[in-house]
Amino acid sequence: MSIEGRVYTITGAASGIGRAVAIRLAELGAAGLALSDLNVKGLEDTKSKCVTYNTKVVITRVDASKSDQIEDWIAATIRDFGRLDGAANVAGIAEGDGETTCATIKTEDWDKMLDVNLRGVMFCMRAQLPHLPRPGGAIVNVSSTSGLRGLPHNAAYATSKFGVIGLTESAAGEFGQYGIRVNALLPGPIDTPIFRDGEAKGLFSSEMTSQATCLKRMGKPDEVAKVLCFLLTDDASYVTGCHWTVDGGYSAC
Ligand SMILES: NC(=O)c1ccc[n+]([C@@H]2O[C@H](COP(=O)([O-])OP(=O)(O)OC[C@H]3O[C@@H](n4cnc5c(N)ncnc54)[C@H](O)[C@@H]3O)[C@@H](O)[C@H]2O)c1
Repeated sequence: MSIEGRVYTITGAASGIGRAVAIRLAELGAAGLALSDLNVKGLEDTKSKCVTYNTKVVITRVDASKSDQIEDWIAATIRDFGRLDGAANVAGIAEGDGETTCATIKTEDWDKMLDVNLRGVMFCMRAQLPHLPRPGGAIVNVSSTSGLRGLPHNAAYATSKFGVIGLTESAAGEFGQYGIRVNALLPGPIDTPIFRDGEAKGLFSSEMTSQATCLKRMGKPDEVAKVLCFLLTDDASYVTGCHWTVDGGYSAC
């Protein structure tokens, strides 16, 4: 699984899964990481962990829902590192109040969700794809098990995550001929702030959700990161256009 000399961008790198992906790529020997998020303090914490592996790390405050900020960030990454080998597009929001239905959803709430979770991934891929090596480039977009079936009272989230799968499969079809792979990673219940925030609002409980998995527990961010990073490496050289669940069997039973 050698990635020595390679450079990656990661959105949502200040916390949870994005942070775990950054640390894992550093551990595997990445030469450079360009990390972005809205949360600069969280980015600094992630950077402090990655640099212990002798990886060069540049952090940038980027709103993933803003195309100009994404464009500037990817252009700066190419200037800083001289190359871009792969990307993990992880940033996302879940929101949700447990009450809203498709009859009451507010347009601004719908737009915010789709802007971050779906347009953000499109903005990233649009900026990243022209720079990736042909062959050898790889992108992983983070969707969700909520991208496989409806999510009552949070249709916007499910819709955004279904959309990430469609976007991923389309890009895989367009860029496979150049040896660029594009895959979607679908986490189930993972113990991160996005999940705990929902639990604090009373939307779900970690105990009940754990029981709904085959493994009877929540996942950890590094368990997602290990699979995501595998998909970024040449060990997954014949894997593209897939949507890979990391959910303890949540969607299987
Ligand atoms: N934790 C789970 O149970 C779970 C399950 C399925 C899917 N996911 C997905 O995994 C991804 C990562 O989530 P996580 O679990 O690590 O949660 P998290 O809250 O720990 O991390 C999400 C990160 O995204 C950042 N972010 C939010 N909006 C942003 C924006 N507009 N621009 C830039 N950054 C922004 C946040 O600041 C945060 O650092 C998300 O896309 C989420 O939908 C998580």
